[in-house]
Amino acid sequence: MHPMLNIAVRAARAAGNIIARNLGQNDQFEVTEKRKDDLVTDVDRECEQTITSILLKSYRDHAVLGEEGGVQGNKDSQFQWIIDPVDGTTNFVQGVPHVGVSIALKNNGKTEVAVVFDPIKNEMFTASRGDGAQLNGRRIRVASRPSLEGSIIATAVPVRYRERMSAYIPLLSRLIDNCADIRRMGVASLDLAYVACGRFDGYLEQGLKPWDFAAGELLVREAGGIVTDFMGETGYVKSGNILCGNPNIVKGLLKVTDPKTLPEVLR
Ligand code: IPD
Ligand code: CA
Ligand code: CA
Ligand code: CA
Repeated sequence: MHPMLNIAVRAARAAGNIIARNLGQNDQFEVTEKRKDDLVTDVDRECEQTITSILLKSYRDHAVLGEEGGVQGNKDSQFQWIIDPVDGTTNFVQGVPHVGVSIALKNNGKTEVAVVFDPIKNEMFTASRGDGAQLNGRRIRVASRPSLEGSIIATAVPVRYRERMSAYIPLLSRLIDNCADIRRMGVASLDLAYVACGRFDGYLEQGLKPWDFAAGELLVREAGGIVTDFMGETGYVKSGNILCGNPNIVKGLLKVTDPKTLPEVLR
């Protein structure tokens, strides 16, 4: 195993233990609202600190970008870890046992290794560039479905960008018209991991942050999938508008987003 992947797995497990110990124990942690409908808990911060110190102990001169704490370590390093310590904070606060830990390492902007861990189901999704993707050590591939027909597509609703809702709803409606069903699981990194292992045929969400998709993106690619923005391009790095699946599914999803008539707010 890539040595850096090894450390990332160790850090993800350490955070996962904290999550598993606290899930459903709401008297043990504080919940605060960062912004409207956007929660953070002591557990998010404790997990981020735990991951960051494990990574920086092994790689003193790397940078670590976390959702809750910003950049720590050597800001000028070519190596940057991108971490989401608790992906699915709303699920966690509600006691819903579907939560992820997401850790990716970029070298000069290129993702080298990725880990998405589900501590409740004990599922460790891993990938390193050029080396495929695995679930608990076994090779995974995206689903081979030939079109959107009959497909199950993960998505979300833009609750943190309500002004986009009126643009998003018609797109969602077209999606529902063209697939078998959708899922809104509430954990972007696991949505991507589930596409990588073929549980979902595809995934489409707008407005993600780098820590939501940095690891999952490599999982999907290394599992043979394609990741684009709603225009079929690489703009998701900035916009956070992401869709993915095998090449046939991506073709179908790009018909749903319809780049020619896509509203400006979703570009
Ligand atoms: C959120 C989850 C959710 C997605 C949101 C994310 P958080 O992350 O991944 O599935 O729909 O866009 O912000 O805030 O729970 O880490
Ligand atoms: Ca959050
Ligand atoms: Ca997240
Ligand atoms: Ca988070």
